[in-house]
Amino acid sequence: MNKNIEIIQPDDWHVHFREGDMLEMVTNFSSRINKRCVAMPNTEIPITDTNKASSYKELLERASNNNFIPLIPCYLNENLDLEDFRTGIQNKVFFGSKLYPSNATTNSSHGVSDISKIFKFLEILEEEKSPLLIHGEKVADNIDIFDREKYFIDDELSFIRKKFPLLKITLEHVSTSYGVNYVKENENIAGTITPHHMLLTKKDVFLDDAINPHHFCMPVVKNETDLIALRNAACYNNSKFFLGTDSAPHPIQEKKPDLSSKPGIFSSPCSIELYAEIFDEENAIDNLEIFCSINGPKHYNYPINDTKIKLEKKEWFMSEFSSYKDIQVKNFYANKKINWKVAY
Ligand code: DOR
Ligand code: ZN
Repeated sequence: MNKNIEIIQPDDWHVHFREGDMLEMVTNFSSRINKRCVAMPNTEIPITDTNKASSYKELLERASNNNFIPLIPCYLNENLDLEDFRTGIQNKVFFGSKLYPSNATTNSSHGVSDISKIFKFLEILEEEKSPLLIHGEKVADNIDIFDREKYFIDDELSFIRKKFPLLKITLEHVSTSYGVNYVKENENIAGTITPHHMLLTKKDVFLDDAINPHHFCMPVVKNETDLIALRNAACYNNSKFFLGTDSAPHPIQEKKPDLSSKPGIFSSPCSIELYAEIFDEENAIDNLEIFCSINGPKHYNYPINDTKIKLEKKEWFMSEFSSYKDIQVKNFYANKKINWKVAY
């Protein structure tokens, strides 16, 4: 049955645009739909000061539609210049700050290995009511890849929250039912949920003697019970969860069938459509707007957008690759049928 819906224009509160030709290729997949996007600062040279943030914002504005607003968090690291950080937060050059535990994911080697060394920056965020965005995984030799989120919550996040109770936190790309419950039960914390964590389980990634690198991301997708918990959190009107695709392109040559592969799933060519499909499957299409367009701005104290987008229920197939100059990236959902489409 054909069906059209109209929703307030969404925002993507977590997306990777990269740099150079890749940035030129991917930015418009996000700006075609979203009014605002949080552009992740784990670029080749991470965005650690106000100059880098301002020039990155300009690059993104130039590569995208006129009315698109990129928001750039500062990449946290113990060596940041404290005064530059304070100015960037106070003047909103930075959209809060992003905590990458070191070596948890792509370009995180400059991240944080000892949380106590960044407390001076967290103090400023708390004072200025500016958000802390977190890649919530604890990485250690004795921690299983599937347990990283739980260990981060228990060992690091609980500690941060105790020390900075008023700090506004976003637990990015929540991937477990444990994470969902933690966000639900605690104050001043919300979570983003990706489409892929609501569509895949570890069986889609870990094959008999190889991995499918196009389904490999951090945090890795988990069990059916986790997928169901994430769908419930997103779809049934829980105001603490909102849209963050974590669309993360890598050239195909970086994708290998083992754990040396770059993690990241490139979903922006179909992300809003996949969210619509998931909500529809859950008989919750009427809640799509709250998740995509209302909960995020509420958490961040931003105005709700005053423009709208239309989605039609109609079948189409996602193409296999996105390409530009000599870059080729495998699209998430390549060659698969999708039942919703943005109407332009
Ligand atoms: O899978 C991921 N890819 N997770 C992240 O947190 C980072 C991202 C990337 O930048 O490639
Ligand atoms: Zn990410």
